[in-house]
Parts: sequence; structure tokens; C-alpha cells
Amino acid sequence: MNRTGRDQGVLNPPHEDVTAWDTGSWGTDPYANALRNGHGPLFLRRTDGWLLPLDVERWCAGADTADLSALRRCEGPVLDIGCGPGRLVAALAARGHRALGIDVSEAAVDRTLRLGGSALRRSVFEPLPGEGRWGTVLLLDGNVGIGGDPPHLLRRTADLLAPGGLLIAETAPHDIDERVRVQLDDGGASAAGPAPAAPFPWARIGTPALLGYARRHGLQRVDQWDADGRSFVSVRRSRTVRTTSQTADTENSAAVISSQFPRNTSGDSPLAGS
Ligand SMILES: C[S@@+](CC[C@H](N)C(=O)[O-])C[C@H]1O[C@@H](n2cnc3c(N)ncnc32)[C@H](O)[C@@H]1O
Repeated sequence: MNRTGRDQGVLNPPHEDVTAWDTGSWGTDPYANALRNGHGPLFLRRTDGWLLPLDVERWCAGADTADLSALRRCEGPVLDIGCGPGRLVAALAARGHRALGIDVSEAAVDRTLRLGGSALRRSVFEPLPGEGRWGTVLLLDGNVGIGGDPPHLLRRTADLLAPGGLLIAETAPHDIDERVRVQLDDGGASAAGPAPAAPFPWARIGTPALLGYARRHGLQRVDQWDADGRSFVSVRRSRTVRTTSQTADTENSAAVISSQFPRNTSGDSPLAGS
């Protein structure tokens, strides 16, 4: 495959039913086992055999400097889409932020709860608490790939944000816009285990592609930066409030989202430090 991913075998599945196909794959044994063990090997295997290593050890560790460079930019209540084992939700909660993780993997949600974070087992494409009221939505660790259709995911994200809300996304460190089908692969660790789940759509995009798709959905660039070899970008939903009911919703958003959390958190201010 070339660096832009526009080669043979690249699939574009924008018309599939995302709620149907995205939940089975990450809920399967290879991912659950890796989270249980706290390490890989774990890969996304493309249908042409190419392997994208997944950084399970980092996901199961505490938030690192690069993570904190994103977390300190968070504003208001934070929704972490595809929270995995929960290091970001836990780090936000520890700093007094209201943060909710959502993930389709039961193992991921269990681990997030054990870390003291709040999490729901839910797909981003299903109805979620606080729609249109989140101060910040996170799509880190390659999660812009969820669903394999970044424009669709960005439109969904824009709908989740409050007016003026911030999307913080991690992008591929090079200019790429790739849509593929992948399977989770543990490199043979469970050779005697069940047959691998069916391939599912995934995507990788760089910052230029993300900014282009974001603009289409009314999300304007705020910032972009690199940290520890990882690339991040933040975009903001317009502050314009379109309807009277939305104005009321926005004013009540903090209270409404607060009511969804078991813990008493201290506020919405951006995180201190980096
Ligand atoms: C690339 S991993 C990122 C892991 C994670 N950010 C962490 O800190 O460990 C993708 C994560 O997104 C979750 N996921 C996949 N599809 C999803 C969906 N439709 N809605 C919510 N989460 C999803 C997976 O279960 C997995 O935990």
C-alpha cells in the first residue's frame, strides 16, 4: 500500500449500518485478553496482511506526557470515545474533571470502572447521555478510525458537542486518508482459540484530512501540536446556538451531564499543568 492508502483493496463503506458492524470485533477475545494481561502482542491486520501494531501496554499504563498535552486542553465535561482500559478517563477524574468513557468492549469498560473512572458499554453510534452538551470529546489513540468512515464519525462527534465545544483528536503523524477492513490479530497467541471475528471497517487519517472533514461539519481548527512523536489537533464547534431549546439545553448542560456521574467532581476548568 502507498502512504496515502489509495491503493487496491481500500474500501469505503459509508453506507453500511455502523451500529450493526462496529460492536462485535472489539468485543472479542484477542482484545479482552490483551486488556486482561495488560499487554500485546495485538495488531489490526488488514485484509492484505499488513499489520498495524496496537499499543496495549501504553493504553494500560497511566496517562503519559503526550496524553496530558491533550487532557490539559479539555474544557467542561469530557466524553472519551473508545476509552479502552480508561487511563484518560481516570486521569481526568483524578484532576476533578467530569469525564465519561464509552467503549463497545466489556473488558475495557470493566477496567475503566476498576480505575475509578465512569464508563458505559456503548457504541458512539448509539444514543448517548448528554448529546449536544459535551464540553470536550476525545478521539485519541487512533480512534478517529472507529467505524472506518471519518466524515461520518466527525459528524456524529459534532452532534455530541455543545455549541462552542471542543473535539481533541489524535491523527496519524503523516498525511494519510485511508479506509480499510481489518481484523484484530494477537500474532498467534490464541492459535488454538476461536476463529477470528469477521473483518470490520477502520480508518487512519492525518491532520489535513481531519481538518477538511471537520470543516464540513462546522468544526473549526483551534490548535495542532506534536508530543512524543504523536500528532494532535483540536477543532471547535461553532458557538452559534440555532434554536431556543438548544439555548436552554446548553445552559443546563453541566447540570444534566453531572447527573450522569456517580462521583462528585469539582468543576469544568481546564486541567492544570501538562
Ligand atoms: C484503538 S483502540 C484505543 C484504545 C483507548 N483509547 C485506550 O486508551 O486504551 C479503539 C477503542 O475503541 C473502542 N471502539 C471501537 N469501536 C467503537 C465504537 N463504535 N464506539 C465506542 N468505542 C469503540 C474499542 O473497543 C477500543 O477500546
